[in-house]
Amino acid sequence: MKKYLLSLSLTTLSLAAIAQNRVTVNADAGKTVISRHIYGHFAEHLGRCIYDGFYVGEGNSKIPNKNGVRLDVVEALKKMKIPNLRWPGGCFADTYHWKDGIGPKAKRPKIVNTWWGGVTEDNSFGTHDFLNMCELLGTEPYLAGNVGSGSVQDLSDWVQYVNFPSNSPMSNLRQQNGRQTPWNVRYWGVGNEAWGCGGNMTADYYANIYRQYATFMAPQVGKETIFRIASGASSDDFNWTETLMKNIPGKMVEGVALHHYSTFGWGPNEKGSATEFTETQYAHTMHEALKMDVFVQKHSEIMDKYDPQKRIALVVDEWGAWYEVEPGTNPGFLYQQNTMRDAILAGATLNIFHKYAERVRMANLAQAINVLQAVILTKGDKLLLTPTYHVLEMYNVHQDATMLPVDVKTEDYKVGDYTLPAVSVSASRDKAGKTHISLVNIDAGKPQEITISLKGLKASAVRGRILTSPKVQDHNTFENPTKVKPASFTGTKLNGDNLTVTLPPVSVVVLEM
Ligand code: AHR
Repeated sequence: MKKYLLSLSLTTLSLAAIAQNRVTVNADAGKTVISRHIYGHFAEHLGRCIYDGFYVGEGNSKIPNKNGVRLDVVEALKKMKIPNLRWPGGCFADTYHWKDGIGPKAKRPKIVNTWWGGVTEDNSFGTHDFLNMCELLGTEPYLAGNVGSGSVQDLSDWVQYVNFPSNSPMSNLRQQNGRQTPWNVRYWGVGNEAWGCGGNMTADYYANIYRQYATFMAPQVGKETIFRIASGASSDDFNWTETLMKNIPGKMVEGVALHHYSTFGWGPNEKGSATEFTETQYAHTMHEALKMDVFVQKHSEIMDKYDPQKRIALVVDEWGAWYEVEPGTNPGFLYQQNTMRDAILAGATLNIFHKYAERVRMANLAQAINVLQAVILTKGDKLLLTPTYHVLEMYNVHQDATMLPVDVKTEDYKVGDYTLPAVSVSASRDKAGKTHISLVNIDAGKPQEITISLKGLKASAVRGRILTSPKVQDHNTFENPTKVKPASFTGTKLNGDNLTVTLPPVSVVVLEM
């Protein structure tokens, strides 16, 4: 008896030493498609996102470009499979008058970018430049209209300018400016952060204004039936979503936005460094990021009350981490580095979007180049891909695949006052019948073993890719641009319907079955 007790307690001990995460992938229960548009990006006239990021000017002989758009950027974003790109803001959108950005560049008016650094905006990158660039990238444009300081007429003119094929004042103007056929833009934002930089409106006031703008945007101009996105709530402002859903007739809106940034606070110097942080600060960022699950769930529940058919999409058109700018850079330019912390944040957030794929059908990481949680950083003619880029590239196998629901029983990851789930998981089956499982080990201290039961799936082989690095602070620099990059992953054991995976600390893995 004593011997039995001893062996029992030894077994219990060794079990306790190995992290015990259990996942069931319900491969027989997939019914919802993960829209590729949740992998969207955001390009604002902010700091070096457009100028110096996407666009280096037609006359630039040092950096290879097409019509001023960097070709190395085009190549990287195409490889990542960028499905849509939001432009021109952000806060900038509600100061932007699109007619300033058309016609001969030398004649375009110069304005002040009042939100971002007070710099002069010469309007050399305007509607034609952006929409032609989207064609080059093979991505769908998402135009954010000016509600805060624009007019109903201006926005309705913009729709006509870019979408109307035949004879009209705006389409004729487009043709005079060199573009014969319309671009057929589908996605349109009706203002941005109307509760803040978009006009400091109340939810009731904005709901009324929205109805007016949406009426004159004419759902169909030319070939394209447009998809109108109402300026949405910040994080947990559930009243905003409730007011919009209650007061905007369902037939007048196709999407309602939501913004959520992971930060330490909005006060001066409160946001912390992008690269120098403790494990507790890392846990704080992840704690903020994982709130996305509750926010999406609660905003969706409100939308369900008014739109049980889920016709209206929840569009998370700004998300990501927000830190202090890199030392010595313009505080108004929001230029920050990007570490493994951001890769973990991206992987876990995308897993959340997959989980709510029925309602979350579009999202935009803020922002694409040189601003906030960027996928690309540039310096002169140099370009680097951030750890976040690699996660989005690895995860692109989920675009337009059928989401497979997962049941996750995870260990806790405890740091200071924070208790977080150690692992985050999602799965999907693509059109070719391949199943992909994305796994994130949030734990910065321990490997995590996960036993995955593959329900309704006969897998014969598994292969995978991993993104990891010894330290959560690790990042790519212009001196060492490939310090953090994906590698092939061999930490799996397949045994019938069961798969065992061991994830190193701070790692993102995508498996293909
Ligand atoms: O992405 C930076 C800014 O964050 C955007 O301009 C604004 O919409 C948000 O507050």
